[in-house]
Amino acid sequence: MTKKSVLFVASEGLPFIKTGGLADVIGSLPKELVHQGLDVRVVLPLYKKIAINNHADFDYVSSFDVRAGDIQSMANVYSQVVDGVTFYFIEHRDFFERDELYGYDDDAMRFGFFQHATCRLLEALHFFPDVIHSHDWHAAAIPFLCRTFYSYREEFRRIKHVFTIHNLAFQGIFHKQALWSALGMNYSYYLDGIARFHDDCISFMKLGILYADKVTTVSETYAREILTEEFGENMQHVLELRRHDLVGIVNGIDYDSWDSQTDKLLVANYGLANLSDKKKNKLALQAQFGLPQDENVILVGIVSRLTWQKGFYLLTEVLGHLLQAQVQFVILGNGETDIENAFHHFKHAYPEKFAFYRGYNEPLAHQIYAASDLFLMPSMFEPCGISQLISMHYGTLPLVRETGGLVDTVTPYHIETKEGTGFSFGGKNAYDMKQVYDFALETYYTRPADWETMVKEAMTRDFSWQASAQKYIWLYEEITA
Ligand code: ADP
Ligand code: GLC
Repeated sequence: MTKKSVLFVASEGLPFIKTGGLADVIGSLPKELVHQGLDVRVVLPLYKKIAINNHADFDYVSSFDVRAGDIQSMANVYSQVVDGVTFYFIEHRDFFERDELYGYDDDAMRFGFFQHATCRLLEALHFFPDVIHSHDWHAAAIPFLCRTFYSYREEFRRIKHVFTIHNLAFQGIFHKQALWSALGMNYSYYLDGIARFHDDCISFMKLGILYADKVTTVSETYAREILTEEFGENMQHVLELRRHDLVGIVNGIDYDSWDSQTDKLLVANYGLANLSDKKKNKLALQAQFGLPQDENVILVGIVSRLTWQKGFYLLTEVLGHLLQAQVQFVILGNGETDIENAFHHFKHAYPEKFAFYRGYNEPLAHQIYAASDLFLMPSMFEPCGISQLISMHYGTLPLVRETGGLVDTVTPYHIETKEGTGFSFGGKNAYDMKQVYDFALETYYTRPADWETMVKEAMTRDFSWQASAQKYIWLYEEITA
């Protein structure tokens, strides 16, 4: 039997480029699928940061013309194999050799080009996978393009499609002109409503939702939530049409990169057998940030994009109160100016208790996950969340809001049964969060045995990709049967 072949198409992926959890998924799920017997390849744009760090190691693959709408350009493609997964990189200097990944006026053209170039690459390679698995809006038009623009070739018509929503808040909404200019598609797809979204606009993501054989998202709870007005981002009615093909599959984490016993970025490695060594990381982090070195004070960590989604307006509202306790905070992240400013303020007001590193920093992220006791993630919505998985795997108990993947992955502490892997609250009120925070601190200081039981439980839970990769394989089998 030949191996089932799957082509992942996404805008970011480790070990090459990352701004968020999407990159974690693209860097780890294909690897596990290969391990479970599939042929998996990944297509990414060749961003400037990738080119600077890796270009010398790449193999040249092919060059070809991409012609669609206003796009008339050449694409060069390079590749590299990592852990059995072939990564292809689409080069277009004007579009991708920029400092940032997203947020440009011509994003529709950039990712229109990326998706057409991906289809052209398949022709150039004579590689027509059984399944194309597209991720988020940057790759969402591919099922549509294969079934319209490229349908003149039977090989394209035969390909099955899975489209995964990692975050419904980012949909690739553009002026309707982009239908022609960026995708090369006829205006009739706007007029008949297929591509239309809001007045005068189209949504790339809507095309993925309508044209894929299966639509997935990254937790079961989020799969239910996005059918509601509250979480649906105006797409709930479209999703409702695909309700029977909408599946929630929870993310895992890369156990090779995240292993507290071998992680080279930690000051001290530790595991269940030598849990007390975890504290050495705390002492080192306190020293690094000029906080008083005290292994007994509870250390609260945050590693995050600093945005509304992540619930930081709840935090800034009560942070002054939270800091009255015997506590230390270490925060790593960047994002919305108001949140950054608030954190700068608290850093100056409470230098003995509050540390803030503005930016993106992979080694520091590892150190915070390992050094902290409590990991704060009060997200307003959370499709899955990778950070709480890493923190539990590192024996750092998460305090989360009960939404999306946070519900599916964190078991709240129960004082009677002593079970749990973290703490959670339901409301959208900062004082609900404060109440659970007080409860968590009380547990840490007055019921240390319960705390340790939870830490051990969290570290024992399976957050690997094994089970979820199997679910994707069943899905691929179902649609290609
Ligand atoms: P999202 O993708 O919505 O940002 P996730 O929890 O799924 O949230 O994934 C975030 C990922 O990005 C995690 O691996 C987290 O450790 C990492 N991360 C977020 N902010 C930073 C940062 N400032 N520095 C280093 N890593 C970060
Ligand atoms: C998105 C979501 C996050 C999820 C990640 C990977 O960035 O915000 O919840 O974990 O994608 O699927």
